[in-house]
Amino acid sequence: MLSQNIKERTHAAHQKTEGIVVRQLKAIRSEADYAEVLKGFYAYFRAVEDNIAPFVTTEVLPDVAERRNSSYIRKDIETLGGTVDSLPAASAPAVHTILEALSSLYVLEGSIMGGPYIVQMLNKYGIERGTSFFEGYGANSGQMWAGFITVLNKYGENPDSHQTAIDMANQTFQQFGEVFTAVHSGN
Ligand code: HEM
Repeated sequence: MLSQNIKERTHAAHQKTEGIVVRQLKAIRSEADYAEVLKGFYAYFRAVEDNIAPFVTTEVLPDVAERRNSSYIRKDIETLGGTVDSLPAASAPAVHTILEALSSLYVLEGSIMGGPYIVQMLNKYGIERGTSFFEGYGANSGQMWAGFITVLNKYGENPDSHQTAIDMANQTFQQFGEVFTAVHSGN
């Protein structure tokens, strides 16, 4: 099944991304710092959402409108007193098919699994507000993930399509990391 292959073959990219995010979180000393990190997430998630929107319709993913998206991040930034007016540069991979779009979305949806760990870290650094994005679907996370994976596997039924799907997910991880590299170097 595609879900198994994509998980195994994006493992390294996940580890790398997790490292980048943990470094960002460890540097947080204030709500303003946290809002800056969220801006990176917002810029990138929006860029991915814009690219996949023409492909991931309600016919493809019936509950797409109920899924977590960048509007949660905007809300969190605003809760912290920030705005989304000036954002870091973020560019998402271009997608050309439903499967490519779902493979890019795989990275965004999967990131919900790391959410509880991120909230825990934030609490440790004194952040208690503006965490709705990382709380994801709460107790429904397992069920929402299963629903997404069913659709991903359906569109990735043909094993010949797996390499393209895996490449797209790896690319989506990589370009996410680039947003924070740019933030750090002040570009
Ligand atoms: C502190 C940061 C993070 C931690 C601690 C973390 C941790 C985790 C954990 C524990 C899982 C579940 C593994 C399992 O149950 O099989 C997971 C899955 C996943 N995470 Fe992360 N994560 C982090 C950040 C991210 C980010 C930023 C992204 C994407 C931008 C991401 C994408 C994914 C994906 C796609 C999966 C699904 C893997 C699969 O089952 O196919 N993670 N993560």
